[in-house]
Amino acid sequence: MMRHTIRQFSLERGSLEIEYMEQYFGEFQEKKTAGEIRRRLLGRPHLILMSLAAPPDDPEQLIPVAFKVGHELRTDETDPALAALADRLRDWIPLDGRRVFYSWIGGTRSDWRGQGHYRALTEEQEAWALHQGYERIVVKTKNRFHAMRATLDHLRFDIIGYERHAFDNAESKIYLHKQLSPGLIRAHVTQREVQHAA
Ligand SMILES: CC(C)(COP(=O)(O)OP(=O)(O)OC[C@H]1O[C@@H](n2cnc3c(N)ncnc32)[C@H](O)[C@@H]1OP(=O)(O)O)[C@@H](O)C(=O)NCCC(=O)NCCS
Repeated sequence: MMRHTIRQFSLERGSLEIEYMEQYFGEFQEKKTAGEIRRRLLGRPHLILMSLAAPPDDPEQLIPVAFKVGHELRTDETDPALAALADRLRDWIPLDGRRVFYSWIGGTRSDWRGQGHYRALTEEQEAWALHQGYERIVVKTKNRFHAMRATLDHLRFDIIGYERHAFDNAESKIYLHKQLSPGLIRAHVTQREVQHAA
């Protein structure tokens, strides 16, 4: 089985790498800027992970080919988007007094899809989040993101809620979660070497 090289990035460097990598994602209409990523994560416990691989024309080099970013979801959020998310989630899962990690953004560059990079990042995020004392990971996607929906299914996230868009069902939102436990981490299948941020 392939051994994945995963690097944890600092906020400064990680936000720039993600801005750069997102140029390669045709399916995102609104790409996140480094500034947006910094504003969201600054002052919030967060984890920026990237999976590295060698480009075909330079097998000596390792470049980020997939990323996954998550942060703590507080129950007293002041950021309007996160306060709305917390309100929505409260309808489906216990939130107050619980430690919930929100898996915010992620993806794999098209040339590197289907090689387990996203599974490796997901498993590493889960292991880290459990170690940090989070009980649960929550993720949100949209009906139209079929590859992501299929992937989250393979990664055994359970649907907790569905929010229908007023007039375009492709834009309807799907909320999923996974409860963290030592047994879940023991069932992980990817082999990973993790380089931690300084
Ligand atoms: C979804 C995405 C992250 C998957 O990345 P990836 O590195 O190719 O995923 P992996 O190779 O790690 O696959 C993880 C699991 O999902 C499955 N999977 C991945 N892509 C799939 C697809 N298109 N259809 C069905 N299953 C899929 C794999 O079979 C694997 O399951 P397994 O480990 O049980 O075999 C990638 O396709 C992507 O970045 N898509 C665009 C991003 C996007 O749509 N974002 C929406 C915003 S929420």
